[in-house]
Amino acid sequence: MKFFVDTAETKDIAELAATGLLDGVTTNPSLIAKSGRDFIEVTKEICGLVDGPVSAEVVSLDHESMMREAEVLRKIADNVCIKVPLTFDGLKTCKALTGDGTMVNVTLCFSANQALLAAKAGATFVSPFIGRHDDNGFDGLDLIRDMRLIYDNYDFQTEILAASIRHGVHVLECARIGADVMTAPPAVIKGLVKHVLTDKGLEGFLADWAKTGQKI
Ligand code: E4P
Repeated sequence: MKFFVDTAETKDIAELAATGLLDGVTTNPSLIAKSGRDFIEVTKEICGLVDGPVSAEVVSLDHESMMREAEVLRKIADNVCIKVPLTFDGLKTCKALTGDGTMVNVTLCFSANQALLAAKAGATFVSPFIGRHDDNGFDGLDLIRDMRLIYDNYDFQTEILAASIRHGVHVLECARIGADVMTAPPAVIKGLVKHVLTDKGLEGFLADWAKTGQKI
């Protein structure tokens, strides 16, 4: 499973990119607003920090305006992935852009039928929002399961990009189901390495090693 980080904070992205474990980045208008940075400028900087896809979202609602915004965004760098909403205009834009060889992430997916439409529109990625699904009394992971089944039934190449990930159990279950990618906030990704028994074991090994008086 590929790991994308869901943030526009360049310091966090650089830190995770340095581990070699980061495969891409997702942003959205709320994350750009939170960063307080200029959209084009920060996106350009992020694209230089990772080799993989960097999702940058259009903010218009009609196809023509989405295409105009996509034109501006895809000029930023070769690894920009245009993010469009799961609406008919978004799907039309997805079809036009991917037909042209541009990566597209269809976002705000909350049903398997929406995901089916995104695949038919040739999406590179589709982003089902697990956490927001859970918040509203549905099982976000069931959506990922349905999508995996449907995409495999028809051999769709669209990658399932599990989004709105809130904790390690979401990550684990997505990997079990076979999501292609997951995107999570930096804290969730950093938290995956933690285990109390790892810390305790390391502490014990180092204490015993100190007793030997040796050096490597
Ligand atoms: C995905 O691309 C979205 O940016 C993101 O995962 C939304 O997550 P949230 O529900 O935590 O805002």
